[in-house]
Amino acid sequence: MEVKILFIADVIGEPGMRIFEKAMPYLKLKYSPEFIIVNGENTRNGKGLSEGLANKYFSLGVDVITSGIHIWDYQNFHKTLTNPRYSNILRPLNYPEGVPGRGYCIKDSSLGKKIAVVNIQGRTFMQAIDCPFMKMKDLVGKLKSQADIIFVDFHAEATAEKIAMGRFLDGQVSAVVGTHTHVQTADEEIFPKGTAFISDVGMTGPFDSVLGMKTEVALSRFKYQTPFRYETASDDLRLNGVLITADSETGKSTHIERIYLRENELYQK
Ligand SMILES: [Fe+2]
Repeated sequence: MEVKILFIADVIGEPGMRIFEKAMPYLKLKYSPEFIIVNGENTRNGKGLSEGLANKYFSLGVDVITSGIHIWDYQNFHKTLTNPRYSNILRPLNYPEGVPGRGYCIKDSSLGKKIAVVNIQGRTFMQAIDCPFMKMKDLVGKLKSQADIIFVDFHAEATAEKIAMGRFLDGQVSAVVGTHTHVQTADEEIFPKGTAFISDVGMTGPFDSVLGMKTEVALSRFKYQTPFRYETASDDLRLNGVLITADSETGKSTHIERIYLRENELYQK
């Protein structure tokens, strides 16, 4: 059976949630996804996530929320990460033991197929956490016996590390999608052994910005090399995502499609 999975990239603050909410009915109608995943690490004022915002995602039809480095920024959320009621909110798997939360979950799609979602983080130009390749090697065997489809959100900075992970997991998982750099790449493809791959899905939120943050602030940080408090930008809302079609019998993907929507296009649809 073909399973369609919709993944929406890093939603930035209130403006990001606004276009996400507006786009959901359109995306559901157009693609009829059986499973929806969103990267929510930037949803609370650009950094982190709250329980209220997570509940909002679930009310809009999201099945699993993935994250990344910013999931730690809002301290109050750490207890939500450990709450069994929220087992479908993930933080990267390869943090040291003792860090709150979980890095993967297995959930049923609307057609009853078991979907494993894994969130993992790169190490190149990032924190020196556990090796994402070894962690995935250990986990994949276990997941294969429990899930029909395995979907991986690899939150990483370096393109080479992301492609290396895609190649490493080719044939072992249904999809490896990159997040973190917030710029959608045009390299989507199905690798030879059936893994759908894209280096970065992009971001959802204000594009009149530097990666979702106010341009003046981001510029000052580069010009003066001193800390300036990031603020979420507000204008030119766009939504980035991918749709992946995978075969639940083989676990291989047959199709990957980039989604890039501007707010004014949604008004016309
Ligand atoms: Fe992000």
